[in-house]
Amino acid sequence: MTWNRRHLLDIESLSTEELLTVLDTARGFKAVGNRAIKTVPALRGKTVINLFVEPSTRTRISFELAAQRLTADVINFSADTSSLKKGETLRDTARNLEAMNADIIIIRHSAAGAPHFLARFLQASVVNAGDGAHEHPTQALLDVFTIREKRGKLDGLKVVIMGDILFSRVARSNIWALRKLGAEVTLCGPPTLVPKVFEKLGCRVTWDVQEALRDADVVNLLRIQHERQRQSMFPGIGEYRAQFGLDRARMRGLKPDVLIMHPGPINRGVEIDADTADGDRSVILEQVTNGLAVRMAVLYLVTGNDPGFVRG
Ligand code: CP
Repeated sequence: MTWNRRHLLDIESLSTEELLTVLDTARGFKAVGNRAIKTVPALRGKTVINLFVEPSTRTRISFELAAQRLTADVINFSADTSSLKKGETLRDTARNLEAMNADIIIIRHSAAGAPHFLARFLQASVVNAGDGAHEHPTQALLDVFTIREKRGKLDGLKVVIMGDILFSRVARSNIWALRKLGAEVTLCGPPTLVPKVFEKLGCRVTWDVQEALRDADVVNLLRIQHERQRQSMFPGIGEYRAQFGLDRARMRGLKPDVLIMHPGPINRGVEIDADTADGDRSVILEQVTNGLAVRMAVLYLVTGNDPGFVRG
C-alpha cells in the first residue's frame, strides 16, 4: 500500500500502486458501510468543504456522505448564492474557505486545471470532483472499483467507452485508470466526438458500433456533453440514438455477461434505452454505491491516514 499525496488532482499522475491503494482502501470502507454503525472517526475534527461551481447530484452528495461517514464536519458551498456572483475570484474564495480552517476542499469547476491551480497555494488538501473536460478522478476510481469487484481483475478485460469522448472528463480519467490496470480500451462514437488522436493514450478508436461491442466485457456509456459543445457535433439526437444508442436490439449482439456502466446523469432514450439501463446487465446504481466507499478512501488518504489500516 503506497500513498504520500496531499491532493487528488488527476488519475494521469497516479502510479498503478497508488491506484490499487485507493481501491483496496475503498474495499475496506465498503465493508464498513455494510455494518449497523456506518461511521468511523478517521476524520473527526476535520472540516471538508464541497466547492461545487458546476451542477452535480451524485458526486456532491457522495462526497458529503463520505465526509459524514468519516465523522468530518462538512459544508456545501453553493456557487449561485455565493460571492462568486459578486465578482470574487476563485482564488479569493478558496483562501477565505481555508481561513475558516478547511482541511479538505473538494472542487468541481468548468475550467480544466482549476483544482491544480488551488493546490499551488492552499495548505488544505484539494480533491478534484471534475474539472472541465480534463479529469474526474473519483468517477474513474469508482468505475474501476466496480469492474474489479465484478470481474476480480482489470488485466486483459476489453472495455468499450462509447459516446461523447471528446468533451468527457470521465472518459479521460477512465482511460488513464483502465490502461494503468491492464485493460484493453476501445473508444467508439461519431468521428466528430471520437477523434483518432485518442489512440495516443493507448486506446483503440473505432466508429463501427457492431465491431466495438462484439467482444466487450464492459461497455461504459457516456452522455452527450451539450454544455461543453460550442457547435453541433452530429446531425441530431434521433440520428445519434439510431447510430450509437444501446438498446435491446444491440444488446442481443453482446456477450451474455457484459457489464453495462454509465457515470450518470443518464439521458434515457439517447445513449441508452430504459430496458438496458434498468436491465440485469446494468451496474449503474452499484457504481453509485461504490462511489461512496471510493470517496471515503480518498478523503481518508489525502489527510495522511495509514493506507494499510482499512482492509476489506
Ligand atoms: N457522474 C457524475 O459526475 O454525476 P454528477 O454530475 O451528478 O455528480
